[in-house]
Amino acid sequence: RKQMKSGGNRSKKVKVWVRVRPSQNFADDAIKLDPEGRSLQISVPRPGGDQQPQQRGFANNQRSDWSFRTDGIFSNSSQQEVYETVGADLIESGLAGYNGTIMCYGQTGAGKTFTITGATEMFHNRGLVPRALSHLYKEIEAKSDLAITVRITYLEIYNDTMLDLLATMPDSQEAGSPLVITEENGGVYVKGLNVHLAQSEEEALNLLFEGETNRATAAHALNKNSSRSHTIFTVYLETRSRFQSNSKYTTSKINFVDLAGSERLQKTLSTGKTQQEASYINKSLSFLEQTVIALTEKNRDHVPYRQSKLTHYLKDSIGGGCKTILIANIWGDVRQLDETVSTMRFAQRMSCVASEPVENQRTDPSIMVKVLEAEIAALKKELAMHNTLRFELRQQVQRYIDGDLDDIDLTSIRQIQAVFELNCWPPSRPGRVAATPPEGAARSLGPSTSGAQLGGEAVGDLDGRSFGIAARSEVGMDESGVFLQSKRREAAAATAASSKKQRQHPLGAGGGSSSGAAAGADSEGTLDAVGSSDPAAAAAARPGTPPSRTQAFEEFKKELGSEIYRILNENRTTMMDKKKEYSNLASQVNTTKTEIDRSRLRLDALKVEREAQGNLYTDEGELIINEEEFVEIKKLRQLKESYKADFDRLKELKTQIHYCQKMVDLTRQKLIQ
Ligand SMILES: Nc1ncnc2c1ncn2[C@@H]1O[C@H](COP(=O)(O)OP(=O)(O)OP(=O)(O)O)[C@@H](O)[C@H]1O
Ligand SMILES: [Mg+2]
Repeated sequence: RKQMKSGGNRSKKVKVWVRVRPSQNFADDAIKLDPEGRSLQISVPRPGGDQQPQQRGFANNQRSDWSFRTDGIFSNSSQQEVYETVGADLIESGLAGYNGTIMCYGQTGAGKTFTITGATEMFHNRGLVPRALSHLYKEIEAKSDLAITVRITYLEIYNDTMLDLLATMPDSQEAGSPLVITEENGGVYVKGLNVHLAQSEEEALNLLFEGETNRATAAHALNKNSSRSHTIFTVYLETRSRFQSNSKYTTSKINFVDLAGSERLQKTLSTGKTQQEASYINKSLSFLEQTVIALTEKNRDHVPYRQSKLTHYLKDSIGGGCKTILIANIWGDVRQLDETVSTMRFAQRMSCVASEPVENQRTDPSIMVKVLEAEIAALKKELAMHNTLRFELRQQVQRYIDGDLDDIDLTSIRQIQAVFELNCWPPSRPGRVAATPPEGAARSLGPSTSGAQLGGEAVGDLDGRSFGIAARSEVGMDESGVFLQSKRREAAAATAASSKKQRQHPLGAGGGSSSGAAAGADSEGTLDAVGSSDPAAAAAARPGTPPSRTQAFEEFKKELGSEIYRILNENRTTMMDKKKEYSNLASQVNTTKTEIDRSRLRLDALKVEREAQGNLYTDEGELIINEEEFVEIKKLRQLKESYKADFDRLKELKTQIHYCQKMVDLTRQKLIQ
């Protein structure tokens, strides 16, 4: 007889499989195995053929017929079939970061140890653990892109005391202090339990055999090699990518739980020590049952895990985020029916425990730091490049404003945007001054109209009040700002204004309307009105006779105004010099700041290095530092001093620039008046 088909589609619950120990006295009449493996029926024969429920041994079982739902049944199944059906997946899931538990529960002699570790004397009867280890190392070899670490513990719980079955391994730490269950980050660990690194299947099997030799067994009437304890063989996996940049990794633990069998003293004929063991076993199995019952009860906020070492150790391994499989080992013998019913009742409860496995993905902070450091370095490089380009652009704009440059070399929209982000742009606004000044006037007066932002700090925007007679027409800009493609125009402003408007469209600035007023930098843009096709606007902008006014202005500058004009230029030169100094100093301050930051980092690194080597102190208790650290501290102090001095000078310069600005404004006013 053989039923191995998975029954039911019970996702999100603990899976329950039944394994029937072969028996010559199989209770064919009483136990019916669903061919699909979905259920197991037990019908207890009633004595004397009457219809009264049979009571022997069933304290709580008043029924004579039971039907138990199962996920699958193993009957006459080989060890290999059992492994392939329920064991292999745990290893594969474990490597993917899922915790797993496979637990054998059942009466004494029903085949729990046979299922978990197998019969040691026959290779083909190897149990789940040796098969799992073999499978695991094959997978590790196949997954060459992953670095997989295997660690193993083997715990025994005997008379509710925890023992390390691997304490006798040569690399184990001295056993002495009692083992203590601790909970950390939602996981359960045993403090003092030796964790062994197993780098090969051979090493791992050695650990299994060592544990097997150390576990407590005893002979009794039903099993000559009966486990007197619960044992849990745990495999801890850590799976990392071999790619240095991947900071994500997974961890998992897979428990193989071989429980001691429930037994009835009158059946096992246990006495003395074995009897006492049996009472511990039965007690702890009853605590396990209580825990499972609590886990299946809705709205139950307390689960009594701490009642026993077994349940406490299995706290994170029964359902929940763990893939859990229960194998209910039953002995189909007619004489064991009551025990079979008990086992199946437990299995039924277990099958109601929710189980929704979650991946244990973690992040390695040290790799994360390295990745982020590389990213920061790349971004800093990019920023430095950006700043350099910006600085060069700023200089070009300044030179353009100063009239030293005919064209600003722009090759991308981004650069155009960058120019607009400069506070010194636009260089001027048309004032309500006479239109179309001669080229010479434009060049000489243009620069004075610019405000400038130096060293990242605005030192006074002059634009609003500028004298910018020609700057605008020179640059050929409008409010929406597409101007940079234009060359300095040699032609008269009127012609230039109209041609400029035509050029503004293709760049999609939107502001370059065909109307002169709209194209103007301000609503009173008389400059544009000159070139406007709108005669009314033009008329409004030129109430007098512009050419003669311009001429008159030139005359005035040459004669009466020449002295004021000279002073204006002088003031402006002083101001520009100060601005240049400000700009240089600002970049110097920035450099010093960067150096300070670097020096601080260097000092931190030196400090870490020193502390790692162990701090040394003089007799007076003063910390001893090495030459390198001393020099770095001195350097940092000097840097801070020069930073402060330069910063103070910057503030001073800023005030002076403001002052110069006022002077320039005043002289300019005078010139206009
Ligand atoms: N499926 C099976 N096929 C062959 N032999 C089996 C099977 N199941 C159990 N046995 C045999 O039955 C005997 C008892 O099995 P085992 O020691 O595994 O029982 P157990 O459930 O661990 O009992 P205990 O609770 O007393 O430790 C062993 O000799 C074992 O080889
Ligand atoms: Mg056993």
